[in-house]
Amino acid sequence: MDEKIRVNTFHPFYEKALNEMLEAGGKRFRPNLLLAVVKAYNPLLVENAKYAAFAIELIHTYSLIHDDLPAMDNAALRRGHPTLHTTYDEATAILVGDALNTYAFEVLSNAPMHSDVKIELIKTLSENAGPFGMVLGQAIDCYFENKKLTLKELKELHFNKTAKMIAASLKMGAIIVNKKDLADKLYEFGLKLGLLFQIQDDLLDLEDETKTGKTTGIDTHKNTFVTLLGEEGARKEANKLADELKSELEGFDESLRKELSKILEKYLYRHKK
Ligand code: IPE
Ligand code: IPE
Ligand code: MG
Ligand code: MG
Ligand code: MG
Repeated sequence: MDEKIRVNTFHPFYEKALNEMLEAGGKRFRPNLLLAVVKAYNPLLVENAKYAAFAIELIHTYSLIHDDLPAMDNAALRRGHPTLHTTYDEATAILVGDALNTYAFEVLSNAPMHSDVKIELIKTLSENAGPFGMVLGQAIDCYFENKKLTLKELKELHFNKTAKMIAASLKMGAIIVNKKDLADKLYEFGLKLGLLFQIQDDLLDLEDETKTGKTTGIDTHKNTFVTLLGEEGARKEANKLADELKSELEGFDESLRKELSKILEKYLYRHKK
């Protein structure tokens, strides 16, 4: 599977802009979660599962490109590189986001998998990324800037903008290995993991850009765990969730526990590093 998007056009930088944020790299947290589930139950399917893993990363990367736009978070740095609207222009950043969003489903449609499986994957990805998931979260995040939410509303914001994509990644792994009960269990685990991931991300806004590779110090007028509960409150909440997840991990099959632990040992307590 080619991870570079190749376009034959006379446009001077369209192809470069399309690939720039993908190539800049990132933690690849979501695709790695999907692949960990597949590896735990059927390592022979890992190569084919990479199509689905790539589709998730395409959606995630589009969400970051749009998130950084002047109309949203107005950030100049992402993944250690200037954001697309800074290097090129806003129209380019909007269109690259649009293209990656659509291309995710083209990639999924081309995956070497049974059509029934692909439809389940498309359903899960679109339900969690679209109007009832990530986009809803981003809409709440942006609309309620300078308007304080309750803690319950903040959790709903974080579940939508971040946790659902992380939960979907785990669930898609379970769909590929045809484990329906596990899909639901992993989805619930993923929601909690996603909430933790976003609280940790809220804490990163207090850090230096040289550490994060993205613009920081821009959440002061937003609803985050740090702005609502303070740094210590956010850390306490992160510790609690990380401890719960660590013990819930024990409830999974040994092979899954082993594969997930490889990733989670880096992330569960990253707010302490
Ligand atoms: C950042 O996601 C945005 C959130 C949803 C918290 P990541 O922290 O996974 O960003 P990359 O993919 O590593 O750049
Ligand atoms: C963005 O949350 C979540 C997305 C859906 C992209 P943030 O705005 O906190 O993400 P960063 O901090 O810019 O990566
Ligand atoms: Mg944002
Ligand atoms: Mg942002
Ligand atoms: Mg953030």
